[in-house]
Amino acid sequence: AHQWRGVLREYADRLDISDATPIITLGEGGTPLIPAPALSARTGANVYVKFEGMNPTGSFKDRGMTMAISKAVEHGAKAVICASTGNTSASAAAYAAHAGITAAVLVPEGKIALGKLSQAIAHNAELLQIQGNFDDCLDIARELAANYPVHLVNSVNPDRIEGQKTAAFEVVETLEDAPDIHIVPVGNAGNYTAYHRGYREELDRGVSTKLPRMFGFQAAGSAPIVLGAIVKNPDTIASAIRIGNPASWELALAAQADSDGYFGAISDDKILEAHRILSAEVGIFVEPASAISVAGLLERAEAGQIPRGATVVLTVTGHGLKDPQWALRGKDGVDVAPTVVANDTAEVAGVLGLA
Ligand code: F0G
Repeated sequence: AHQWRGVLREYADRLDISDATPIITLGEGGTPLIPAPALSARTGANVYVKFEGMNPTGSFKDRGMTMAISKAVEHGAKAVICASTGNTSASAAAYAAHAGITAAVLVPEGKIALGKLSQAIAHNAELLQIQGNFDDCLDIARELAANYPVHLVNSVNPDRIEGQKTAAFEVVETLEDAPDIHIVPVGNAGNYTAYHRGYREELDRGVSTKLPRMFGFQAAGSAPIVLGAIVKNPDTIASAIRIGNPASWELALAAQADSDGYFGAISDDKILEAHRILSAEVGIFVEPASAISVAGLLERAEAGQIPRGATVVLTVTGHGLKDPQWALRGKDGVDVAPTVVANDTAEVAGVLGLA
């Protein structure tokens, strides 16, 4: 019986791999593109959500990690290293475990979601909390990879972006063309770059008829690309994208120029509002960083920048179960406490308003 074989096997002809490349896969990719009627109704566009939380470790990072770890093993690496706000470390740890090699991961102390920390520990990574932010962690990881026998698997490693571009292939395949607009959250801007590359390749191959405008959104307290300057102390509840000096900044600006793209900033309140809308009206549970795609769509629609009837794809990058605490926070900022009822059917019926 057919089973999705992971992005390296599914797209072998589109990636720089050969018979000498060991395929280290957990079956990543093939994620659902979900129509979102509630978001279409709010915006007048034709909105779809690419749910990357459905990847094996719960984020889009797996697409790039299968490529990066496979190539690292091909080149004889016995250990890999990355800096991470949590998802990259979870993914690197899982793929390294599968490959039987060591993963060392550097994370900002106290600043990554519990689910992600648990994943890295469970997959037996050598995890160090650095007394600094993500940008500091990346500086150290790069220096270590330059000076010691350890292979860097952050998205400054080109294999990562190559693997991640496969998400655009899937969108084109499902819609039978590229969308008009594609929206992603932006941290290091690797994924923004990767989607643009995938769409560019599909257009150049003649598979699609257009290049989507790439819209990327950063949290207002961590918006270096929007500001045009490094942010020294980035801050946002969206811990995955708390990044002040994006590694793929230049590549992303080139992708923006090629696609008539856009970068915008979104407040934490708007991120949490979008998180509630996506959960309650569409039925998709994501981590806060992912909800910024929805917030960005709503902001652009309000600004009159989303043409009626346009096909818009939002990538939601990570699963809500990684960082579930935000769902409990009500609109008023107070945590929801589920009602307690006696062990009695009549009482439950009464409380539910059924009686
Ligand atoms: N969404 C999530 C859930 C992420 O974890 C990240 C990045 C992004 C969006 C932004 O993607 O960096 O390609 O622009 N997380 C990295 C990590 C930094 O370490 O897990 P980007």
